[in-house]
Amino acid sequence: MKLSTWRLASKFNLVFLLVFAISIAGAGAIFNAILQQQARQIVTGNARLMMENALAIRKYTSKQIQPILPTDHNGRFVAQTVPAYSAKQSFEYLRKQYPDFFYREAVLNPTNPDDVALAWEANIVSRFQKGDEKEIVGMRDTPQGRYFYMSRPLRVTEQSCLKCHSVPSVAPAAMIRDYGDKRGFNWKLHSVIGAQVVSVPVSVPERMARNVTALMMGSLAGILLVTLVILNLMLRQIVVAPVKKLAHSADEISKGNLEVEDLPVNGQDEIAVLSGSFNRMQRSLKQAIQMLDE
Ligand code: HEC
Repeated sequence: MKLSTWRLASKFNLVFLLVFAISIAGAGAIFNAILQQQARQIVTGNARLMMENALAIRKYTSKQIQPILPTDHNGRFVAQTVPAYSAKQSFEYLRKQYPDFFYREAVLNPTNPDDVALAWEANIVSRFQKGDEKEIVGMRDTPQGRYFYMSRPLRVTEQSCLKCHSVPSVAPAAMIRDYGDKRGFNWKLHSVIGAQVVSVPVSVPERMARNVTALMMGSLAGILLVTLVILNLMLRQIVVAPVKKLAHSADEISKGNLEVEDLPVNGQDEIAVLSGSFNRMQRSLKQAIQMLDE
């Protein structure tokens, strides 16, 4: 009788690999869901920080730059004194590090036509105007892909804003010359005139989550693989090799060869007990046959 060494081991490996595959797939799905949630929180946090930063730059411009810089320089309007201008410009510098983030100051009646609220932005602005929502977060499909957006209301916070946004007659002449007298006026103090909107492609948090998931899955697969190798070595040493010896001896005895060597009895495990019993059985059998022969 020929005993294949790998029979036990391959059954064992098959089951192990099956459990291995199921647990990797399950863990991957769970990790990915958790990590995506986390990545979204990180992106939301970044977006929030960027908006706060834009507000801080606006404040800095209206508190510290506007009072000392003339709005008119050699007949040209000095846009650097405009809070919205400095917020947008500085965001462009920030985008060199964060090219996936987009910032808009979407306004229903803007001074600069580039800032006009698009239909979906206008919806958000009117929600801010109606209710007391402080932040609106959502997803949006665009031809460039799915975007995550986050927005906050833009208010006319200070009296100084009205110097340029109330009526054209009080606005700097140079500004009227550059921007005209049709847009960006009749804003009221404390009213919501638009929304700050930060958008990020959804692929950004998804990519962040995927990268971490891949790393975790890779480490898990590595650990399981090492475990598999160690278990195989143990299986061979503790079960397969002794069972092979046992099978060989049993085979010889069944053919009438009672002179086979005693099996090694190492330790007290089940295999050792079995080997011990087998050795005794072989001796008893030998004695019985000797008695018969006498
Ligand atoms: C010196 C004049 C001036 C002052 C003061 C001023 N703005 Fe403006 N504001 C402008 C100009 C000009 C633009 C257009 C800038 C551009 O080209 O992007 C603008 C743009 C904006 C925008 C972007 C939408 C749009 O109209 O294009 C917002 C929002 C805004 N201002 C809000 C404010 C608030 C709030 C204050 C007060 C804290 C303020 N502004 C003070 C001149 C002014």
